[in-house]
Amino acid sequence: MKMLREARRTTVLGRLRVSNRVGVLRSDLMRVGSVDIGPGALLAPMEAVTDLPFRTICEEHGAALTYTEFLSAEALIRGAEKVVGRMWPSLGGRRFAVQVFGRDPIVVAAAAVAAAEIGACLVDINMGCPARKVTAGMCGSALMREPALAASLVRAVRAALPSNIPVTIKQRIGWNDLSINAAEFALRMVEAGAALVTVHGRTRDQGFSGPVRLASIAAVRAALPKEIPVVGNGDVKTIDDYLRMKRETGCDAVMIGRAARGNPWLFRAILALETGAPLPARPSIAEQWQVWRRHADMVVQYTNDKMRLHELRKTLAWYSRGLYGGAELRHKAFQENQPAAVLALGERFFAALHAREQSRAETGESDYPGGLAARSLARHLRRHGEGEKRCAD
Ligand SMILES: Cc1cc2nc3c(=O)[nH]c(=O)nc-3n(C[C@H](O)[C@H](O)[C@H](O)COP(=O)(O)O)c2cc1C
Repeated sequence: MKMLREARRTTVLGRLRVSNRVGVLRSDLMRVGSVDIGPGALLAPMEAVTDLPFRTICEEHGAALTYTEFLSAEALIRGAEKVVGRMWPSLGGRRFAVQVFGRDPIVVAAAAVAAAEIGACLVDINMGCPARKVTAGMCGSALMREPALAASLVRAVRAALPSNIPVTIKQRIGWNDLSINAAEFALRMVEAGAALVTVHGRTRDQGFSGPVRLASIAAVRAALPKEIPVVGNGDVKTIDDYLRMKRETGCDAVMIGRAARGNPWLFRAILALETGAPLPARPSIAEQWQVWRRHADMVVQYTNDKMRLHELRKTLAWYSRGLYGGAELRHKAFQENQPAAVLALGERFFAALHAREQSRAETGESDYPGGLAARSLARHLRRHGEGEKRCAD
């Protein structure tokens, strides 16, 4: 432990991998400016998804850092209640990142300062959103066609933030196949002051489907100074996807978006892989039930009256994906008109599954599909064997 502490103290920049004397306990810290990010995957910013309940569940299951959804810088500094309300600090004093979008350097810098004031440990500028409502205002991924303006946003935010709060960016690999500029663009942002670059390995034209171009993420890693972490993002749904993203891009960390919906156990499995801890068993139905309920209770607590029913249906839909009877449940949930009725439906669903799991355990049967993390862990172990369980070694 002494060596571990010493190594942490003496490292100045960059990704640090240290082990204690017997080589069992390992720790990976990713240094972003003066902020250390622990081992594990990062939760991607997602509009209408990464609210406080969602982020809390992912943090409790091992996400190394969570981000708010992208927030309009202009709306934030105007004090628009709806947008300001989405900048909720993580519970328990845990660190969190705020993502903003905009194209006016003064406005974006002021929004970044507001984010720092409510406790964000870093401020990320969105340079990857493909939505027309955003790119029409020349924000989001449209900035990849205007590197000079994008750099001026980074410079303005860097100058406005306290020195201990890094500014980071999240970009794509380019606007379309004819204008892949991921590496040059990222380098320019780093020269302007970005301390970390996240790359979603698709062009703006691809939206959210089609192949993720790992080679373009690797090109960003190769182009940037070693001390600037690169985060790979896109279609990481399993442990195998995670390992492939790291292996083929050389990225310092991985960011997970859609696959985290209803499956926070993916973060737990990745954290175990990275720290050399025993791989967790697949979540039992009882555990899935308990985590859904905790998530749903936070939705009730933190969501306004208008959105509560919708958010509860959505949450139940995420957690029932891949489970026996899930499709029928979702159909019923969308017919319910009261939050309490959706909660009761979820309770009955998980109680029935739990009883079924118990009786199957007694007879030695098991046909539950399990969560994605469980399935991917099983596949990983089949392919690579027990010997690679400590893949961080
Ligand atoms: C519903 C939804 C909302 C999103 N909102 C944001 C956002 O606010 N900011 C952002 O940078 N990316 C946003 N993204 C993109 C994700 O952060 C991520 O880059 C993308 O989904 C690819 O990662 P994945 O395959 O792990 O989901 C969003 C994606 C989805 C599906």
